[in-house]
Amino acid sequence: MTKPTTVLITGGAGFIGSHTCVELLGHGYEVVVVDDYSNSSPRALDEVQKLAGRPLTAYQADLRDRGALDAVFAAHPIDAVIHFAAKKAVGESMRIPLDYFDINIGGTTSLLRTMRAHGVHKLVFSSSCTVYGSSDATLLGEDEPTAPTSPYARSKWVCEQLLADTCDRYSEFSAVSLRYFNPVGAHPSGRIGEDPRGVPNNVMPYMTQVAVGRLERLSVFGSDYPTPDGTAIRDYIHVVDVADGHRLAAERLDDAPGLRVFNLGTGVGASVLELVEAFSQACGKTLPYELTDRRPGDAIRAVADASKVAREWGWQPKYDLAAMCRDAWRFQTLNPAGYDRAAGPTNDSARTAQEV
Ligand code: UD1
Repeated sequence: MTKPTTVLITGGAGFIGSHTCVELLGHGYEVVVVDDYSNSSPRALDEVQKLAGRPLTAYQADLRDRGALDAVFAAHPIDAVIHFAAKKAVGESMRIPLDYFDINIGGTTSLLRTMRAHGVHKLVFSSSCTVYGSSDATLLGEDEPTAPTSPYARSKWVCEQLLADTCDRYSEFSAVSLRYFNPVGAHPSGRIGEDPRGVPNNVMPYMTQVAVGRLERLSVFGSDYPTPDGTAIRDYIHVVDVADGHRLAAERLDDAPGLRVFNLGTGVGASVLELVEAFSQACGKTLPYELTDRRPGDAIRAVADASKVAREWGWQPKYDLAAMCRDAWRFQTLNPAGYDRAAGPTNDSARTAQEV
């Protein structure tokens, strides 16, 4: 295992990206971020640097802009890349599929081309359990057949295929694809967390915004599923555990050639109503909710078989559902309106790629 020293994180200002920056800075890595801030705030990176007590370098750029990306690679001795930057809302992807293919697949292709041009051959890819589709399996293992059911899911699936093809063609390439389940929570400090633009699509940020008074009540999508309480079951995982998994993956890139796929989940399922109960405990008030129709396209159950990553890397999640709710709530109470976007990029954390 060779430890990379300088890691490029695409989408580093986003929810999982910002926590991964803290994790890497805390382990002594040099961190370079590329983010277009289309669904994130550069202020997250200010908080990252304060939390870690160390600086990083950030560039505002779209990954499809080869010239901008080229300049970033030319300016830093990058050893490995962790690639988060992508669009990620299932429902939105049904409305604007071409945007999803262009940004997610086009961005990944541009990144791989630039990596090759600069002799960088190690990549950790942010994938998702969404590639499994609506499987009936109790626990989803990595060998479960893939059956993506939305343009978002297909974009992740295609990226995995093109990573496999790239690794097949160029033997010096090694890649790890992490298929994670439902990342939630926030850094225990409450200084960085999930801050989606507009009305949240995902359940945890929706709940925190209800609890803080920005939204009226949670709609629980579907109460007639064949589950013990009738609501859908997911494998929620603390974002700090997900970030830890990415650091480990970056350190394991040299273990084997080619593309390797790992689930990141806890192996423990929680229903929407169990999550509401856990969150109500964490925030000290009963969360208002109503039972509504199912959301089209939702799986009944998506829980990881998390044994491969435990067996091969010794990785175990450290946080339980109560901690996920506690930390998500802390971030929301400390940042009731989210990051202050009005301030725009700050000089110490964000430069445009042209300024390189
Ligand atoms: C989905 C994808 C996941 C992707 C994520 C990104 C699947 C199986 N999973 O997660 O890979 O990374 O989107 O956006 O495609 N819920 C409510 N009310 C709400 C919101 C959600 O009841 O207002 C319920 C949903 O029906 C679901 C659970 O909460 O049962 C979790 O939903 P959500 O947080 O949106 O994540 P997924 O759809 O599971």
